[in-house]
Amino acid sequence: MSAESAKTDISEFTNPNLEVLYSENQIQDRIAELGQQITREYKGLDLVLVGVLKGSCIFLADLMRVIDLQLTIDFMAVSSYKDGTVSTGDVEILKDLSNPIRDKHVIVVEDIVDTGLTLSRLLQILGSRGASSIKLATFLDKPDPRIKTELKIDYTGFVVPNRFLVGYGLDAAGRYRNLPFIAAVRDPSVA
Ligand code: IMP
Ligand code: MG
Repeated sequence: MSAESAKTDISEFTNPNLEVLYSENQIQDRIAELGQQITREYKGLDLVLVGVLKGSCIFLADLMRVIDLQLTIDFMAVSSYKDGTVSTGDVEILKDLSNPIRDKHVIVVEDIVDTGLTLSRLLQILGSRGASSIKLATFLDKPDPRIKTELKIDYTGFVVPNRFLVGYGLDAAGRYRNLPFIAAVRDPSVA
């Protein structure tokens, strides 16, 4: 067998280096609850969901389909500068919003809040643009490494342990975003 066909025989979804923490069903049940809550709380308001690329794309796609309201979506892409593996809090906007958020009710949608440095800076940037309100929804909240402890998260999917997690939009060097579940990487050196 050639090296190329051996590679395609390996299942990504049953990779033994992954320990599943939240299954597809658990994720969908929790997102349905968040959708119901947001539907109640934003009734009659001009709502825009702002996804932070790339990690939030799957969460945003599922969340928006369980919010039974008129809404629009927009995206931002930011790069956080890291000093080694530690986030420095400096954020560069790689892609800005396509539309103004003045007088809109904004929910920023993130995949995971870790130190909170990236989101704090992003909320500071968005805070100067005249929105009626800005709230934060994160699929995962990893509170242990939090540096910006004052960061208020309004909607959380799951509170997770301080491990490196992948799947459902979260990546390790670009890989694993397509897993339909959340997993911890057992041995990050072979991830
Ligand atoms: P922070 O809150 O500024 O430290 O950075 C949050 C960003 O780091 C997230 O949006 C993710 O892109 C990334 N990140 C943090 N923890 C993890 C993880 O466990 N797996 C994958 N990406 C992570
Ligand atoms: Mg992110």
